[in-house]
Amino acid sequence: MKIAVIPGDGIGVDVTAEAVKVLERVATRRGLKFDPVYLPWSADHYLKTGETVPPGGFDDLSQNYDAIFMGAFGDPRVPDMKHAADILLGARFTLDLYVNYRPVRCLDDRLCPLKGFGAKDVDFVVFRENTEGSYVGSGGHLKKGTPDEVAVQEDVSTRKGVERIVRYAFEFAKARGRKRVLMSDKSNAMRFVGDLWQRAFWETAKEYPGIEASHLYVDALCMQMVKDPRQFEVIVTNNMFGDITTDLGASLQGGLGMAASGNLHPGRVSMFEPVHGSAPKYAGTGKANPFGAILTAALLLDHLGHAAEAAAVEAAVGACVRDGAATADVGGSLTTSRAGDAVCERLRL
Ligand code: NAD
Ligand code: IPM
Ligand code: MN
Repeated sequence: MKIAVIPGDGIGVDVTAEAVKVLERVATRRGLKFDPVYLPWSADHYLKTGETVPPGGFDDLSQNYDAIFMGAFGDPRVPDMKHAADILLGARFTLDLYVNYRPVRCLDDRLCPLKGFGAKDVDFVVFRENTEGSYVGSGGHLKKGTPDEVAVQEDVSTRKGVERIVRYAFEFAKARGRKRVLMSDKSNAMRFVGDLWQRAFWETAKEYPGIEASHLYVDALCMQMVKDPRQFEVIVTNNMFGDITTDLGASLQGGLGMAASGNLHPGRVSMFEPVHGSAPKYAGTGKANPFGAILTAALLLDHLGHAAEAAAVEAAVGACVRDGAATADVGGSLTTSRAGDAVCERLRL
């Protein structure tokens, strides 16, 4: 496993160290070759050198690595997020990682914030379209800084782009024995892209007669996720709605510190990152929860064909939560690094 490791900014650095620690432990126990190659791409590096991604950087990632692991990006010294746009969104767009795979699973009853519900009630996945929508950077300013200023941010969906993520969601459901796929949009207000999403979804759904297709407007979806998360198995939605609903999903898992994600393109190099950001106020304090990053490492292992190892990492994180061997946000009193150690100690491999 030759992995490009890009810790990034803030707590991204802290949690990536723990994810790498766990991968190292897994590799040692199972006799796997693990070769992490650190890349300095971050706010610090940008402020020092003026460079976000070096020339040819993405070609290098796509040709020379089995996978990419990123921590998080965001630094108060770079208020326009230029480096994150180049590195994080740059990777998603340039490498065409059109599937943002965000499992929403609660590993222990004590993490479930909903009255009357427990871990078994929160188990679905969100497929977020990852290369289009309002993230394409289409738009601009007119008369900026004047009283007549105009700002336009376009929301771009293509038939091919929508169809491939919708199809991925149905194929995933089929492969994993899931029975329901729900598409969420805002087609009552956003008629143009909404209409395209509706047609692409319902036409594709016809090819999967064994899977129940359904739809909710995204505002209603947010309400239903809190009211009764048991009704969801697979959700597919656009870039922006996927971003928002998976922070809500993270809360159902016990907080942002518990949520993992993969940015995938079948057959090409994929990128893995926790859902949370750089939480600058926690950087270097030992307060950051590394479990989201460690569960992200499990997704990476699974993606590279090491399903048993991935399951063992997930089980070890679950055991930590049950034992209270965790950081304060999930009810423990350990530091980031000790929480990483606790996962290593509980690995049954
Ligand atoms: P954030 O996810 O960094 O933090 C929000 C809050 O969630 C934190 O204050 C903290 O209370 C909690 N939290 C998040 N991760 C945690 C962890 N591992 N352990 C414990 N608590 C955790 O979001 P934000 O404060 O909105 O954004 C901070 C910066 O990160 C911004 O610059 C933002 O743009 C960026 N961001 C980056 C990514 C990414 O790189 N993928 C994702 C989200 C936000
Ligand atoms: C995420 C983040 C990013 C996004 C930001 C940092 C651009 O919130 O990965 O969820 O909106 O995709
Ligand atoms: Mn987000």
